[in-house]
Amino acid sequence: MSVECFVTGGSGFVGQHLLARLTATGHKTWVLMRNPENLERLRQQVSQLGGNPEHVQAVQGDISRDGLGLDEAGMRSVSSAAVAFHLAAEFTWGLTIERARAVNVQGALRVAELAASQRMRLLMVGGFMLQNLGHLASIGVDHQHPENTDWPAVYRRAGGYEGSKIEAHFAVIRCLQQAGADYTIVHPATVCGHSESGHIVQGQPLAELIRNLAQGRFKAIPGSPQHWLPLVSVDYLVALMTCVAFDPAMANRQVLALYEHTPNLHGMLAQIAATLAVKAPRHHVRIGLLKWLLAIPGLAQQLSISAESLNFIQTQRFDMRASEQLERKYQLAHPDMASALENTVRYVKGYLS
Ligand SMILES: NC(=O)c1ccc[n+]([C@@H]2O[C@H](COP(=O)([O-])OP(=O)(O)OC[C@H]3O[C@@H](n4cnc5c(N)ncnc54)[C@H](OP(=O)(O)O)[C@@H]3O)[C@@H](O)[C@H]2O)c1
Repeated sequence: MSVECFVTGGSGFVGQHLLARLTATGHKTWVLMRNPENLERLRQQVSQLGGNPEHVQAVQGDISRDGLGLDEAGMRSVSSAAVAFHLAAEFTWGLTIERARAVNVQGALRVAELAASQRMRLLMVGGFMLQNLGHLASIGVDHQHPENTDWPAVYRRAGGYEGSKIEAHFAVIRCLQQAGADYTIVHPATVCGHSESGHIVQGQPLAELIRNLAQGRFKAIPGSPQHWLPLVSVDYLVALMTCVAFDPAMANRQVLALYEHTPNLHGMLAQIAATLAVKAPRHHVRIGLLKWLLAIPGLAQQLSISAESLNFIQTQRFDMRASEQLERKYQLAHPDMASALENTVRYVKGYLS
């Protein structure tokens, strides 16, 4: 069965793989692009990733603009979609609160309003930290009564990107509940490259971590032996996203996309270092101390580490029972993640040399 889909963020790392998966399975996609002149390049990329480029069409727009910046023709094209996949986000550290809200919060609300008005199912991508209730409480988010949250204070503690992803999550749910429309939310862990090709886009958090290790910038392991950075491979992630987006039983549900057997950070860095043939750091440094050091002017830049990125290194373990049930239902399994990570490291090494 072919379903027409509307995709934001289709030119991004996860978006390219999602387009490949959707189009390979016969779905026609309308991709919101700020620069539609890049459509041919995107189609080539989708083809290289195993998709059908003929099923990728662009509509010009920008989530930070009123009405998503769609003209009449763009709006007509998009309205024929039955499912909207919202992935677009300004995914970078050091965002101002104004910019983060304008794109990641208001942009998500515009996509939600469009989905509700056109009766499309909205599949939104959140992030695994939204399922870490202890962390949410520690940065001041009242997850049961989000309207009581002091958002500017949350942004000061967590940074623009994370603050805006969390605010957008609660704002979109409220908007869709008020409109009586359905949503499904997938919360990915840090995304690793494709399990076979290792394909990952430069600038992705995991690619930057690999680059830092390759370039000898990692002198110590942030956190304790209990700290970890959960991963998920991009191919598993997009497979799960497409399954839940078309499953009526997933209306108004959320799911974690996370490989719970990801080793602790020490083990992960040792594995990456072995593939890079460099020395792995052996000593731990407390995250609080590291954040304090990173506040020294110039040091974060010199070490290529942002204090914001350290928030994703946590000790929290997650309840994966709901995700496991869905894996059984869709006959979906995580790939061999040790080899997915190794392939990702080789891929990154390829563009470092
Ligand atoms: N990657 C991870 O580790 C990870 C983990 C958890 C959650 N997520 C979430 O997953 C989603 C996809 O992440 P990603 O890694 O694929 O990000 P990405 O590679 O940085 O891609 C971001 C996408 O958003 C688009 N975009 C940014 N601002 C826009 C605007 N104003 N209007 C329209 N499009 C805009 C970009 O388009 P251009 O080509 O025009 O720049 C690009 O297609 C995001 O919501 C992110 O928060 C990612």
